Amino acid sequence: MNPIPFLRPQLPSLEAIGAYYRLAEEARFYSNGGPCERLLRERLSDHLGGVGCVPVHNATSGITIAVRAVTDAAGTGDRRFVVMPSYTFVATAGAVRMLGYEPLFIDVEPAAWQMDGEALTDVLTQRGTEVAAVLGTHTFGLPPAAKVQQGWQEICAEHGVPLVIDAAAGFGAVDDTGTLTGRDQAPHVFSFHATKTFGIGEGGLVTTLDADLLERIDALHSFGFVQGRLATYAGVNAKMDELHAASALAVLDGFDEILRRRREIAAYYREHLEPHGFAFQTGAAGGTWQAGYLVAPDAATRAAVLSGAAAASVGVTAYYDRPVHRHPAYADAPVHGGMTVTDDLAARALALPMANDLSEQERQRVVEVVLDAARGR
Ligand SMILES: Cc1ncc(COP(=O)(O)O)c(C=O)c1O
Repeated sequence: MNPIPFLRPQLPSLEAIGAYYRLAEEARFYSNGGPCERLLRERLSDHLGGVGCVPVHNATSGITIAVRAVTDAAGTGDRRFVVMPSYTFVATAGAVRMLGYEPLFIDVEPAAWQMDGEALTDVLTQRGTEVAAVLGTHTFGLPPAAKVQQGWQEICAEHGVPLVIDAAAGFGAVDDTGTLTGRDQAPHVFSFHATKTFGIGEGGLVTTLDADLLERIDALHSFGFVQGRLATYAGVNAKMDELHAASALAVLDGFDEILRRRREIAAYYREHLEPHGFAFQTGAAGGTWQAGYLVAPDAATRAAVLSGAAAASVGVTAYYDRPVHRHPAYADAPVHGGMTVTDDLAARALALPMANDLSEQERQRVVEVVLDAARGR
């Protein structure tokens, strides 16, 4: 039987990209807000219901810029810490280290795997005056319930600490009220990396409804220029070039269908694995499904699934099996409160194969391999 890879990214055809790229060729304008980038801003903004959009060259830079923008605006920039969950990808922490901040890690909660509101309240109550910003994450791109995120916002506002959301994998995700992620005052950062459901190679997007933050983010991603070539802010170059903007426009044309297919595959995984003790995130139906994220009932079952899948050449892997505070680069960063849930999830986490074109036979085989391995342990 053919191996099933963990991910099988699929970008739009050259033809589909070229149809947009022609606009750049005709204008002889290849970056710096050319016709494709301008059209992309407009279409992404429409897609998200009218929100300020700044396309960027990747989400890591997007996070760096968004954190700089909110701390500048709030006047908290000279503080030491950025609070964030440890149950995330290392880029969340790396982006703020590059700004000179220390990550201050807190736990997540067990059912939705999202930043724990009680831990957030506790850390801001005890150390709020040392905190420059909170960098909440949408774990695996899935937003928490609307009330949970509102709670994060209220806690941050109470302590005068700005909030940024790393929603990297979450372009297209919806919360429990059916609202698309990203339409918010707090900047949300999305990744358009090749492996994401909205994939273009390297790229990303920062969104916000706040006009002042939008101006800052827009300027910071392009040398700090606000009008013409006058550097009003100390910015960097994180612009999205025309070829990537053309790719993103082509992805957007087929994105509803991509999401539909991935959600169908994920629903199949849930239907067949939940009855056997495997658990999915609360609210999973609204996810974008970069991969099939779930947790095994226990660590021994996880180990059996990983080795059974490897033997069957089925690309099952373990995300996040190492939370950020357990990576050597961040081992010296402070942790506030316990990491019980994070460590428990990390010991049981699994990620199943996903692709726009994962066939019915392939998804059946993935489920069979997982269940055989779990039964046989
Ligand atoms: C949670 C999270 N944050 C940030 C990033 C970084 O995104 P990019 O690769 O676009 O810089 C990723 C990428 O996988 C991610 O998963």
